Amino acid sequence: MVSKNVVIGVAGGIAAYKACHLVRYFTELGHYVRVVPTASALNFIGAATFEALSGNPVSTSVFDAVDEVRHVNIGKQADLIVIAPATADILARMVAGRADDLLTATYLVATCPVVVAPAMHTEMWHHPATRANVETLRERGVIVLEPAHGRLTGKDTGPGRLPEPEQIGVVALAALAGASFKRTLEGKKVVISAGGTQEDLDPVRFLGNRSSGRQGFALAEIAVHRGADVTLIAASTDSLPTPPGARLIRVGSAVEMHEAIQEESPDADIVIMAAAVADFRPEVAADVKLKKGKNADQLTQLQLVENPDILAGLVADKRADQIIMGFAAETGDAQHSVLEHAKAKLQRKGCDVLMCNEVGKGKVFGQATNMGWLLTKTGDVIEVSHGSKFEVAAQIWDVIEQVRE
Ligand code: CTP
Repeated sequence: MVSKNVVIGVAGGIAAYKACHLVRYFTELGHYVRVVPTASALNFIGAATFEALSGNPVSTSVFDAVDEVRHVNIGKQADLIVIAPATADILARMVAGRADDLLTATYLVATCPVVVAPAMHTEMWHHPATRANVETLRERGVIVLEPAHGRLTGKDTGPGRLPEPEQIGVVALAALAGASFKRTLEGKKVVISAGGTQEDLDPVRFLGNRSSGRQGFALAEIAVHRGADVTLIAASTDSLPTPPGARLIRVGSAVEMHEAIQEESPDADIVIMAAAVADFRPEVAADVKLKKGKNADQLTQLQLVENPDILAGLVADKRADQIIMGFAAETGDAQHSVLEHAKAKLQRKGCDVLMCNEVGKGKVFGQATNMGWLLTKTGDVIEVSHGSKFEVAAQIWDVIEQVRE
């Protein structure tokens, strides 16, 4: 991995402590990190902490180390700037083009991707001034993340929390890798299913699969960044953080997922079935726990019935202007390669786009990375290069947007 110059800007908010984890995130990956806090940030976290974690000097003023011309050089040399947390004040100063401290001067000089993770009270986030500032920064190409929803400094809850450092980190790395965050999906309703369905055998047992839901969550997150109205229908993904800005509907079984998709898809512009839906479910789900002595027959001779094929239903009911995408998690066999299986599945399912990836032997399911091919109804086969599931999500969205055009 090539080491990059990463600048982490820290503004004065209670979430400043999370910036320490972000510094660690980038240094552990081997990047060269410079922390540039504002003077107020140092009320929350001391310069010594940032210096120790980054291994680099920390200053807030344009008048420190003037001989090094830091106020220009840090920004010029940066490959990526991440400002987390970003307060309402720093957003306003960035919009105004102020350069009265080292962070704003660094931002003004930089030409690299800039990712901003706002964290503030809900009222400040909703204030027309902040809304306008966010809009302006996005128009200027700054990647402004949505804040997470949850507990704020006091007893209040709402949108305004800083997303978890790793969530910010993966998005920033996708930006560094060249993923587009242009607001190309504004006004579009996107429905995405993710995770693996769980088919109950009894109150404690279920039939499940190894899908982690990460690819679907990454698709949702990139769609939010591109401005879409995103509904994520997820099964067994409790350990994944909800993509800020997306509406999450939790389901358990394939039948529940089917109902939620039927409810949400009619007015959607794009529907992506990234979930690993169980093809079969136990014919009967026992109300009480099955016992190995008494119910041995039920457990050894499991009767299964077929689940609805959600993707097939979506294709059957598809509006002419809708895009439906499916996934094909395949293993090759003696007769056919992974890609041959996928081409046959695209024919069978009739969706507009199919993402095919090879699974098994520790590949894809549960992993942070992915790769594969995107197959379109019109016969194109586009290779998706290896990358984080966020980088892959950005490539998938690029192709969906091309197909829409
Ligand atoms: N899918 C679905 N409903 C199902 C099964 C699958 O909507 N009951 C969707 C998945 O979300 C995925 C696509 O169909 O987008 C392909 O899923 P996969 O399990 O690979 O295909 P199957 O239809 O199960 O085909 P096969 O068993 O032949 O591999």
